Amino acid sequence: MDDLTKIKSEFLALVNSSKDKIELENARLKILGKKGFITNLMKSLSGLDSESRKKIGPEYNLIKKELINAIEVKKSFIDSEYIDNQIASEVKDITLPSSRENIGSIHPVSQVIEEITQIFNAMSFQVVEGPEIEDDWHNFTALNIPLEHPARQMHDTFYLNTNPKEELSNCKLLRTHTSPVQVRTMMRSKPPIRIIVPGRTYRSDSDQTHTPMFHQAEGLLIDETSHMGHLKGCLIDFVKEFFEVKDINYRFRPSYFPFTEPSAEMDIGCIRNGNEIKIGGTEDWLEILGCGIVNPRVLENCGIDSQKYQGFAFGLGIDRIAMLKYGMPDLRAFFESDIRWLEHYGFRPLDIPNILNRCSK
Ligand code: PHE
Repeated sequence: MDDLTKIKSEFLALVNSSKDKIELENARLKILGKKGFITNLMKSLSGLDSESRKKIGPEYNLIKKELINAIEVKKSFIDSEYIDNQIASEVKDITLPSSRENIGSIHPVSQVIEEITQIFNAMSFQVVEGPEIEDDWHNFTALNIPLEHPARQMHDTFYLNTNPKEELSNCKLLRTHTSPVQVRTMMRSKPPIRIIVPGRTYRSDSDQTHTPMFHQAEGLLIDETSHMGHLKGCLIDFVKEFFEVKDINYRFRPSYFPFTEPSAEMDIGCIRNGNEIKIGGTEDWLEILGCGIVNPRVLENCGIDSQKYQGFAFGLGIDRIAMLKYGMPDLRAFFESDIRWLEHYGFRPLDIPNILNRCSK
């Protein structure tokens, strides 16, 4: 092996042993840089006579080509290796469980709304919503609560009157119950109707079990045959499912609502320990809803033939049943936005309740 071939092999080895772009660049400079091996080799040609140059020139060029080629090959190898490493380092194992970040918790009222709608959805009730700012007709008159009706006083209505001289019945108001959504739904759709309407309601009232803003879920079912027996069955199934106890104590008491006839209220048996209310027993009772057979006058007010159709309605106090299910003593705490309370009673955000979850437990 002559000297030149030996030096060439050393440079080839230098190129091939480069581990990264930097090492390769250093090797390239040693070969092709200003003072590099090939550069010097080519310069040395100028000192030769033309005869020798013709002979040696092609030989040097061959060495040059060989080395340039080796650098290129190594370069593309390092590049692809770099890309492969990059890809490998960015691969994420999506089968790993997600990390638990503290993104807050679900308010018990939202949780309970979700639970209620899940249960009624399974009984084919569709979720409907309506406006919180209502007019007198939808909130009262259409529901058979005409002007001067004493039931209006019981509602402690918040009126949105800007002019004190204006008749209250002409003013907008904050809905006092979710029942106006019954009216809106019956006016725009034909029976059969099966809806569940969760939402905010407002009355000027505040103590341990009343807040000026509270939540109700309205149920309405209209068809040709449904009666009080169906209403009771439906509500009994609901409370069993909701409270997750089979032998829950409940009772229906006769009551009065202008928009239902006959009317009733449903109570749940509970135990009161100081301020705390717990479900169970028959020692004490907590009223959770009003219900009844839709008054034919309401059907007629909403353009539904009361000779052909009938059905039932109920209005459920969401905050009340949340207190009862989760043992919360004071309703007012629901709306104080105390982060410690929320952390104590709140629910994990990724744990949206649903009936399927419950079945798989
Ligand atoms: N709207 C009634 C209330 O707020 C509850 C109710 C709804 C009663 C539907 C009967 C039927 O007290």
